[in-house]
Amino acid sequence: MPSGDADEELQGISVTASTHQDTPTEDSDSRRWKAVCPLDTLADDGSVHVDVTGYAVCLARSRGTVHALLDVCSHGQVALSDGDVEDGYIECWLHGSRFSLDTGVPTGPPATQPVPVYPVRVVGDRIEISLPAAPDDPAPC
Ligand code: FES
Repeated sequence: MPSGDADEELQGISVTASTHQDTPTEDSDSRRWKAVCPLDTLADDGSVHVDVTGYAVCLARSRGTVHALLDVCSHGQVALSDGDVEDGYIECWLHGSRFSLDTGVPTGPPATQPVPVYPVRVVGDRIEISLPAAPDDPAPC
């Protein structure tokens, strides 16, 4: 059981740019939210990689809004979180395709396939995301 220590690690969640960890929470709609990092970890027009229960996630912040998407470019399997964020898009650092942070859809080649986007919210000073259940992620009780 977590003691509430902000530096304590929760099994299955790691954050590249922060040591903050937290426990999952649930909404009335039973969506399972997981706190992944403090909001101030993510600068505007910035991005960060987080690993959450088997998912590589890119958190990006643009025009004051936080977004979450799979941290794998649909063209070359590199981390989108290493790219540049601007005006609601993230640009893949390898070949330059730009992906909408709202939809995951690329604006042009070489990427032609979208990347999955995930629900994200800010609760107080922390970012929470909701991911599909991973095979090794037990359903909430
Ligand atoms: S690897 Fe991302 S556009 Fe080619």
